[in-house]
Amino acid sequence: MSKAFDLVVIGAGPGGYIAAIRAAQLGLSVACVDAWTGAKGGPAPGGTCTNVGCIPSKALLQSSEHFEHAGHGFAEHGIGVSGLTMDVARMITRKDQVVRQNNEGILYLFKKNKVTFFHGRAAFAGRRDDGFELSVSGKAEETLHARQVIVATGSNPRELPGVPFDEQRVLSNTGALAIDAVPQRLGVIGAGVIGLEMGSVWRRLGAQVTVLEALPDFLGAADQQVAKEALKAFGKQGLDIRLGVKIDAVEPGQDGVALRYTDAAGQAQQLDVDRLIVSIGRVPNTAGLNADAVGLQLDARGFIQVDDDCRTTVQGIWAVGDVVRGPMLAHKAEEEGVAVAERICGQKPHVDFATVPWVIYTSPEIAWVGATEQALKAQGRAYKAGSFPFMANGRARALGDTTGFVKVLADATTDEILGVHIIGPLASELVAEAAVAMEFKAAAEDIARICHAHPTLSEAMKEAALAVDGRSLNF
Ligand code: FAD
Ligand code: NAI
Repeated sequence: MSKAFDLVVIGAGPGGYIAAIRAAQLGLSVACVDAWTGAKGGPAPGGTCTNVGCIPSKALLQSSEHFEHAGHGFAEHGIGVSGLTMDVARMITRKDQVVRQNNEGILYLFKKNKVTFFHGRAAFAGRRDDGFELSVSGKAEETLHARQVIVATGSNPRELPGVPFDEQRVLSNTGALAIDAVPQRLGVIGAGVIGLEMGSVWRRLGAQVTVLEALPDFLGAADQQVAKEALKAFGKQGLDIRLGVKIDAVEPGQDGVALRYTDAAGQAQQLDVDRLIVSIGRVPNTAGLNADAVGLQLDARGFIQVDDDCRTTVQGIWAVGDVVRGPMLAHKAEEEGVAVAERICGQKPHVDFATVPWVIYTSPEIAWVGATEQALKAQGRAYKAGSFPFMANGRARALGDTTGFVKVLADATTDEILGVHIIGPLASELVAEAAVAMEFKAAAEDIARICHAHPTLSEAMKEAALAVDGRSLNF
């Protein structure tokens, strides 16, 4: 006998659990099935984001940043630290506790919103009556019937061909977040978001980190001026980033990993490391879904094919988050999840993909929303640019964190903000103002005329907006 629901959500990552909650708020009977198992064998909802992604990486970034400040930053404030020690096991335990709090928070939210949770793996079993039959295997063995289904099964790390993750020597994000002692020499393949964040964590804790990147340009998705500033800052910190390389061989051994690669000048090079993080992107996760049972189509790259509204090729089945096109970001997954739940209930929500912010939680932080300057040039769009350096911001000086700038790009005629790019302290928080402004189709003049508290980092945003019109006051 199957249990019937208006909606079954497969996956309790940020796309899935948020969709389930929103649908339950709107009055649907909702089940959410998630396979992730915690260290003690119980459910661990929250997906990649909570278990091996956003949350644990930020926990370790915070711990490692405290360590770095204590070791190198406090002295200029007149604070001496002697006998500074590091307990990596404690850091990892704290990170695991933060993860568990989030797992438990989601289970609590399911209860609060009357979402029925099943801990197991869901697969399509076929169509029946006016909906779909799903089997759940694992901790929970169930057959479910759903009028509508949202697939939110996320993504997995991409392996280098022929080099499987063993999570001891060759690490995906999972292993990179659980290293039990600081490696002396850490290799990273891929200078993308994970490579830079995890490379920063282990460099701050004392590893000698070498990052090998295939592309000749650093952080191609970011504004070029920001990428240039970031490369300079990371280099100063000691991250050894080598661009334009071709990996020829990766040989894990007893004591480490031997890498052979061709550098940008065409020279053969060898690099021996104790551990290697491979962070070369992620692939959609549709394994075990049995998509064929209902005729669900994947695109050429294995993503579930959806339209702008996250409708799949099968009426009644929707897909959101990393398993569909677009940036692999938790907040993008959440917005899609909410929008689909509302669409199922007859509402007409809209997700504006043009205002999805990006953040890289390195130091300095990097954040942006909207078009880069190089993209505007390529489009032939007439624009004005205004920048303001944190060096000229009083709060940044007081913090002792003056690297970077804010750059505002606005339409040359209408002054509408087209993009905002930030590198510097708390860029992750500052970018929210830019996203709000762009959602409201604000002009640079609007930000320039809004009263910003003094002394705050946000004044750099106002000053950059003023600079669009050549009338920055403090620079
Ligand atoms: P996921 O979070 O991957 O969740 C999918 C869930 O579905 C998983 O729990 C999985 O077990 C479950 N599942 C899969 N198949 C089945 C099945 N058949 N039955 C039942 N359950 C199933 N993004 C940000 O925005 N900010 C960050 O700071 C950030 N940091 C990151 C750091 C790292 C190291 C990594 C790897 C990623 C990071 N991301 C970050 C990306 C973010 O984690 C993803 O974009 C986000 O988790 C995608 O959400 P999702 O719901 O689509 O999928
Ligand atoms: P990524 O796409 O950010 O970066 C991968 C990098 O690896 C690219 O620069 C690419 O050119 C390079 N690369 C690919 N193949 C290579 C090869 N064979 N040799 C050398 N370099 C190679 O992917 P990453 O870092 O794995 O992260 C996956 C996704 O997770 C990100 O795209 C992002 O969506 C999400 N994420 C988001 C975070 C955030 O929002 N702060 C943090 C971490 C991950």
